[in-house]
Amino acid sequence: MPRQSLIGGPDLAYFVVTPTEPGVTIMNILHIDSSIFGDNSATKHLSAQVMARLGAAYPGANIMTRDLGADPLPHLTGADVAARGTVADPVLAEFKAANIIVICSPMYNFGISSQLKAWIDRIGVAGETFRYTAEGPAGLMQGKQVIVLTARGSDFSAPAFAAMDHQEPHLRTFFAFIGVDDVTFIHAQGLALSPDARGPAIAKAEAQIAALDLPSIHRIAA
Ligand SMILES: Cc1cc2nc3c(=O)[nH]c(=O)nc-3n(C[C@H](O)[C@H](O)[C@H](O)COP(=O)(O)O)c2cc1C
Repeated sequence: MPRQSLIGGPDLAYFVVTPTEPGVTIMNILHIDSSIFGDNSATKHLSAQVMARLGAAYPGANIMTRDLGADPLPHLTGADVAARGTVADPVLAEFKAANIIVICSPMYNFGISSQLKAWIDRIGVAGETFRYTAEGPAGLMQGKQVIVLTARGSDFSAPAFAAMDHQEPHLRTFFAFIGVDDVTFIHAQGLALSPDARGPAIAKAEAQIAALDLPSIHRIAA
């Protein structure tokens, strides 16, 4: 039987599932929504489609979900950092257990939202997701796949606007730093450029989700 570990205390229904039999592979999928717009969120709409595809591809998967828009994490404090290593952080534990991580990232002021940043500040932990060495920092999170769904009012795909995008480069830098080298971005952008722009932009992202080659994006350790 796989072993289930409750993380986050009795008020959080998150289980990290660990295979205990040879040849048994349990998929842990972490789903992070982060929009403040609830059911009107473009990224939340898109992440539901990704999760539906993942659910169909991996029917026995253990799904862990956080909605940082509905239930924001508080800003990291010095006390939180001082307690690292002595107090378990369910946010970090979920991430470390996950094989695939689906992340919603609404663009706010050219970067990620403060809601998502509060989550990232709990993931980038020396000794847990990366370590310092004499040769420099080294990531420890190899083997995970990350799918990022962004939404933007403007369109940053044209070269003239690419330099204003501090969202995708930030997330790519962060995940590369902790050792995650398999990161897929799907953008719904230009949503606010005209009254008619939102539908086609979301449809384009939906087509990219439908075309995701899920078996090939996942390489679970045996
Ligand atoms: C506080 C705030 C800041 C925003 N800043 C930008 C921005 O810098 N560039 C942009 O293209 N859109 C910006 N937008 C528009 C959002 O990216 C857009 O509404 C997107 O759909 C949000 O994702 P969501 O629908 O999943 O919540 C901003 C929206 C808000 C609320």
